[in-house]
Amino acid sequence: MDNEKKIVLSGIRSTGHLHLGNYYGALRNFVEMQNDYKCFFFIADYHSLTTQPDPALLNPSVRSILAEYLAAGLDPDKANIYIQSDVPETCEFYTLLNMHAYVGELEKTVSFKDKVRKNPNNVNAGLLTYPVLMAADILQHRADFVPVGKDQVQHLEMARNYAVRFNHFYHTDLLKEPRPFVAQGEPIKVPGLDGSGKMGKSEGNCIYINDDDKTVIKKVKKAVTDMTPTEQNSPMSDPIKNLFYFLQLVSTQEIYDQYLAAWNDCSIRYGDLKMQIATDILKVTTPIRERYNEIYADSDYLNKVAAQGAEAARESCRKTLKAMREIMGFKHF
Ligand code: ADP
Ligand code: TRP
Repeated sequence: MDNEKKIVLSGIRSTGHLHLGNYYGALRNFVEMQNDYKCFFFIADYHSLTTQPDPALLNPSVRSILAEYLAAGLDPDKANIYIQSDVPETCEFYTLLNMHAYVGELEKTVSFKDKVRKNPNNVNAGLLTYPVLMAADILQHRADFVPVGKDQVQHLEMARNYAVRFNHFYHTDLLKEPRPFVAQGEPIKVPGLDGSGKMGKSEGNCIYINDDDKTVIKKVKKAVTDMTPTEQNSPMSDPIKNLFYFLQLVSTQEIYDQYLAAWNDCSIRYGDLKMQIATDILKVTTPIRERYNEIYADSDYLNKVAAQGAEAARESCRKTLKAMREIMGFKHF
């Protein structure tokens, strides 16, 4: 059926908070995608147990991520938004797929080796089979596209392998090979304002969507700079390029041009540039923060969104799972 919308699916980590890197690098694309594709976005709380099981934090953390993503533009009337653990079908799918996932391959996964190195006392089987659970997330909906960051490319490749292997073994075309979703235009990589290449949680340099005014201003003021230029049209160092990159993301073209001209004629004052960036970041984040506060306080709404998402996700999974069980030879007695 050619006029059926292609399916895009993405998992969202259930720990941490939404920062400007996530917002510009991923979320804004999700917000666009929900208009053109049949989307599934879910909060991957089963996955979080592989490294950070904390019963007291699990639910509040999932709720706040859900509220953040809704506040920033995910729309439950356009996309299917659910919590991974509300869809137990995923676990059955994961069990069935596990029979076609080889331990040798899993042990070679970069993310697994990395976690073993960092946390040698918690090498659990869930960590080893993390990519199988992720493949179950994807294959159960027969997703066409998965938007993934660099660190998830190998996992997606494994999901593709499992689909091909399963189909080959059972002489079927049930499982669809998911492809990476490539956003149009230049990919956006939000730099760190500490002079590092990337804003990220593990880099510890994030400006969070929920940071209050004072915090944002403080973080931007701390941005690394160097001497102001003394010669016209000087080349920029990396930290200054980062500041201009930020300005381009959050400000208008007119303001950007104004500061670039000031750089080129050496009249630039970094204090002003930083205040401009902080002010314009806040123009983006303040409405989201305000919506977040409303949504987070509205438990009925959050429960409704999660219930509606779970129901639709389960229906979608059940179809694939039913066919999968039949293909594998399970019969009702
Ligand atoms: P972190 O690196 O802070 O742990 P995540 O890995 O949870 O962030 O990010 C989820 C998604 O957000 C990534 O797949 C990527 O698409 C996007 N993302 C994260 N940081 C950045 C960044 N600095 N620039 C652009 N996109 C980013
Ligand atoms: N592993 C992903 C991450 O850490 C989250 C995730 C879980 C995911 N299941 C997925 C992403 C399925 C895409 C598709 O970011």
